[in-house]
Amino acid sequence: MREFILKSNKAITSGDVNLKDLPGSCGRLDLVCRCVSSAFFLSHDLRRDTIFYSVHYGSPNPPVALKFVGSELKRVSPDERSIALFIKKALEKEHICIWKESTSGIYHAKKEFRDIVLERKKEGKRIFYLHKDGEPIEELFNPAKYEKNIVFVLGDHIGIGEEDEKFLDEIGAERVSISPLELHANHCIVIVHNIIDKICMI
Ligand SMILES: C[S@@+](CC[C@H](N)C(=O)[O-])C[C@H]1O[C@@H](n2cnc3c(N)ncnc32)[C@H](O)[C@@H]1O
Repeated sequence: MREFILKSNKAITSGDVNLKDLPGSCGRLDLVCRCVSSAFFLSHDLRRDTIFYSVHYGSPNPPVALKFVGSELKRVSPDERSIALFIKKALEKEHICIWKESTSGIYHAKKEFRDIVLERKKEGKRIFYLHKDGEPIEELFNPAKYEKNIVFVLGDHIGIGEEDEKFLDEIGAERVSISPLELHANHCIVIVHNIIDKICMI
């Protein structure tokens, strides 16, 4: 299983999603939608081995966490508007500290970014923090030692923030770089998938 956890510093936390203004009044919800699209959509197929989390810290009611499960997703298509509609439906619900399903494969909860990372850690998964200045990914993964349950944490346009970087260091998350250049979050997801796809096929 491949999992991605996105910290969405400004993404909206109510159902007041204006589909015509995802970047502005919705707090860069366009970025979240592109990450969902990159996490799951292949040409005429879906990545069923992937789970994607987005933890929203925008107004009016942070945090709200969303979970997308590739093996359960139905009716979502790769365009931002379609994904935003499903996110709007999930954000309209009342959130409690356990996951509730909104539509097929899309869950919502009142959970912090750190709790979601810690839950994965407690499941025994290896946690990687995607960071430009981390260890080159090629040096961390090789086909002989490939692990199946891996989690990648990444930031939005603002990044993870100092406090959460400290937290990730403290829990032993490994910093991993996929390029010497600063990339968009959704491009990071595509590149990580591509690297792991190739490793799996060797
Ligand atoms: C647009 S970047 C964030 C830029 C932000 N100004 C910052 O200082 O973190 C979005 C996220 O993509 C990931 N990222 C960007 N470039 C990367 C790279 N070369 N290698 C690994 N991860 C990268 C990081 O997790 C980053 O938080």
